[in-house]
Amino acid sequence: MARSINDIVDLSVKELDDLIDVASDMMKDPQKYAKCCEGKVLATVFFEPSTRTRLSFESAMYHLGGSVLSVPNESSSSSAKGESVSDTARVISGYADIFVMRNPKEGSSYVAGKASLIPFINAGDGGHNHPTQTLADLMTIKMEKGRFNDLTVGICGDLRYGRTVHSLINALSRYSGVKFILISPQELGIPDYVRREILEVYDIPYEETEDLVGSMPKLDLLYMTRIQRERFEFPENYDRLKDSYILDMEKLGNAKDDMIILHPLPRVNEISIKVDEDPRACYFKQALYGRYMRQALILKLLNEKEPEAKARPKMIRCDIPCKNQRCISQTEQELEHVYKLVNEEHQIYRCLYCESKLMMKPADIADIEYIG
Ligand code: NCD
Repeated sequence: MARSINDIVDLSVKELDDLIDVASDMMKDPQKYAKCCEGKVLATVFFEPSTRTRLSFESAMYHLGGSVLSVPNESSSSSAKGESVSDTARVISGYADIFVMRNPKEGSSYVAGKASLIPFINAGDGGHNHPTQTLADLMTIKMEKGRFNDLTVGICGDLRYGRTVHSLINALSRYSGVKFILISPQELGIPDYVRREILEVYDIPYEETEDLVGSMPKLDLLYMTRIQRERFEFPENYDRLKDSYILDMEKLGNAKDDMIILHPLPRVNEISIKVDEDPRACYFKQALYGRYMRQALILKLLNEKEPEAKARPKMIRCDIPCKNQRCISQTEQELEHVYKLVNEEHQIYRCLYCESKLMMKPADIADIEYIG
């Protein structure tokens, strides 16, 4: 089985450090790496719009001397004819050496990674995870702040649907002295699994507030995000919330001189363009660092031997469908309903694919199989 990077925690802290070191070296000495993926092929299959992620992966592969096959949208792929994600992954495995996919279905990356015979990278699965944006974010923090420890991190905007937010919180929760200030309208707060299984389990200090201006003086880092229009069920809710936060020079007046401003981009209206000239604005550098981190990741995965099998959580298989309408298991009917145990004491199970909570207790499910 090939390695799959589905979630940022699929990479250890040591691996993240190594990737940042390699990416920094690639920036300093690009020639040294210019041919190291010669003869190798990267496939990018993107079923949602993307500029940075897809092009930075493709640019990364070209800078390593490799070549690229690309499906830039769903309508030009067999998915439009109804092909399953696992079939797509199996087929791509015969055409390329490494496979990158973006798909609107939450948990689709888990399914693709399982079926792929070549290393697989999640480039965004619906509103769930986006681990390689976190690689760009981490390199930016390392380059601009010099550390991950002892930071007060403000994350502002759409924390509910913003997949980059979920992966970033997961990554930074592994460092000591990190505190989060989560700034959003109430209905766009972080999902339950991020709160319970990351922040609470690891005892990470966090506050939730709607107040950007009041939070500003405390922050070492401000991560702005776009309100994710495409994930709203009702457009009127998007219209009501879309301009909740607009960072401008006046609001920045309260910020520390060495605070850094990140944004995964694209920005819609969240950061006034006047802020671009402020030395604290790092979002364009962040997009460039993303290319180097993707280069480092491609190189690492192509050079790795077969990964060791990871310990599996306890799981159950049953006939209760996942409650999340955006979960891959809703559309790929052949997928079994499998839930993993995330909290033994309270018997909390979450969907193996998208991490939504199973609302029933296993004891109340008639037809159930325990795995592991
Ligand atoms: C983000 C994404 O796709 O989740 N963009 C990106 O990959 N750089 C953020 C967003 O679309 O708002």
